[in-house]
Amino acid sequence: MTTAPVIELRDAGKSYPGGVHALRSVSLTVEEGELLAVVGPSGSGKSTMLNIMGTLDKPTTGTVRVAGYDVSELSDSRLSALRARHIGFVFQHFHLAAGRDAVDNVADGLLYAGVPPKERRARAREALARVRLDHRGSHTPNELSGGEKQRVAIARALVGKPRLLLADEPTGALDTASGGIVMELLHELNASGTTVCVITHDNEIADSLPRRVRFRDGEIVSDIRSGALLDPRTQKAGS
Ligand SMILES: Nc1ncnc2c1ncn2[C@@H]1O[C@H](COP(=O)(O)OP(=O)(O)O)[C@@H](O)[C@H]1O
Ligand SMILES: [Mg+2]
Repeated sequence: MTTAPVIELRDAGKSYPGGVHALRSVSLTVEEGELLAVVGPSGSGKSTMLNIMGTLDKPTTGTVRVAGYDVSELSDSRLSALRARHIGFVFQHFHLAAGRDAVDNVADGLLYAGVPPKERRARAREALARVRLDHRGSHTPNELSGGEKQRVAIARALVGKPRLLLADEPTGALDTASGGIVMELLHELNASGTTVCVITHDNEIADSLPRRVRFRDGEIVSDIRSGALLDPRTQKAGS
């Protein structure tokens, strides 16, 4: 038996009223266990694609499959359940709730997973330990550095044990040292089996990852895996 790809976009397009084609016709397959970078200039459609991969947004054309399920065929509640079970998100500006401590912020990652509150907090403490912040559990976001906030956000993303972690410029608001720690954590997560997709502006970060998908004007212009150039449409090595 073969496992369905974690994500499969087929000719996915996204346009907005006024003729903005954020995404033109993107086909991308992400297999279980991959660690990939999505790179490209600002406005090239990276976040639009990530939101579509994460089922936060729907394409106007084309199809999206998550773990083999065509998301257009799922009801909103099934889609939420699929997202809660399979996907974790990390954003540039952390998106933590102010005034709630780190444990509560991480526990919120289990809100839609049907886990009772007490167990949510216990699992949140374990997730904080994985990002080496067990000693900061009772601190609120304003008592944490940028790098620590992002580690809390990573803990919130991983507490539900997702197969896929989607990170949109996770180091974009951090200094080099904190960004390095965040990337190290993403590598560790990947080594333990989570598929990880990272949007980054930073070519050095992109070059440190085994697969790089490059965007321009809403399209994939190159897709390089372990040194081999892949055809952006077929995902196979070009001839
Ligand atoms: N909600 C929206 N309404 C209209 N245009 C949008 C919307 N979201 C994104 N866009 C446009 O789509 C294009 C791609 O945006 P985005 O995916 O955010 O790019 P990136 O993440 O690569 O910077 C940009 O031209 C942006 O202005
Ligand atoms: Mg963006």
